[in-house]
Amino acid sequence: MQFRHFLSTQDYSRAELDELLVQAEAFKRQRLGHELRGKSIALLFFNNSMRTRTSFELGAQQLGGHAVVLSPGRDAWPIEFEVGSVMDGEAEEHIAEVARVLSRYVDLIGVRAFPRFQDWTVDREDRVLRGFARYATVPVINLETILHPCQELAHAMAMRERLGDLQGKKYVLTWTYHPRPLNTAVANSALLIATRMGMDVTLLCPTPDYVLDERFMLAAQNNARENGGALRISHDIEAAYRGAHVVYAKSWGALPYFGRWEQEKPVRDAHRHFIVDEAKMALTDGGLFSHCLPLRRNVKATDGVMDAPYCFAIDEAENRLHVQKAIMSSLVAQPAG
Ligand code: CP
Repeated sequence: MQFRHFLSTQDYSRAELDELLVQAEAFKRQRLGHELRGKSIALLFFNNSMRTRTSFELGAQQLGGHAVVLSPGRDAWPIEFEVGSVMDGEAEEHIAEVARVLSRYVDLIGVRAFPRFQDWTVDREDRVLRGFARYATVPVINLETILHPCQELAHAMAMRERLGDLQGKKYVLTWTYHPRPLNTAVANSALLIATRMGMDVTLLCPTPDYVLDERFMLAAQNNARENGGALRISHDIEAAYRGAHVVYAKSWGALPYFGRWEQEKPVRDAHRHFIVDEAKMALTDGGLFSHCLPLRRNVKATDGVMDAPYCFAIDEAENRLHVQKAIMSSLVAQPAG
């Protein structure tokens, strides 16, 4: 059976992404519909969530569908993902059965599975998401693994609402301090969608160790080339902020330190000044600010920035609801293979 998943925006053409955004705008104007009548989605959370869980559950319900939320290892059986594994450990069942059984019950499967933060060469294979996509016979949606494509669309939609056409607009993705190393997914995704929209993108991070995985850097470079944008790396805070139209903040762990986080800590601690504050925002060209949330106030961004009229993080979070309705609707509307 041939059908599409929603694992990465890179699997979709620019025209298809624009179509999803137009559909999301329609759902923002008219929240209730019948696009998912009689349909259901299983939402599997291997990690915590507030926005993703709430917006998917409500989005399905508002379109006449139903969502089932499962947390494998907590309220559902722990799952094995290795092919050929002798399952004498914690896992009670294999992804081959889980994905196939769920596919008999539901029309869509959503998966959130963060890296394990021990070995990036393993985490970058995205085995949990890929396992579901391999065995499921219904479309799978990435709810954040090593990319966060739903967040990408919500972010793009919110930027367009404020700026209109994004082509050529100056966009800064800035690393920020956080006491723990966090997932690179949103940072990877921010580069992909901003370059896809033809923006003039700067990745601002403390040292070259904080540059993102080469797979996503390369994809973003190609996006920039194909869409008339640009991508550069900077470690100079003032230069990066100057003239920016959008500043997007995220913290992430430096890939060379994966699994050796105690060695990264002094580097991380030395860069608390990457916090987004009013003085930095004053360098921009009347720039906007956002973050995917959750955000630690006065660690990643100051109260003054979060409460400023230029902060659109709440609009972006709201847009998760609308873009995900567009994604779910388009996936269930696929012709049977
Ligand atoms: N931005 C986002 O995905 O939020 P949650 O982690 O709360 O789902």
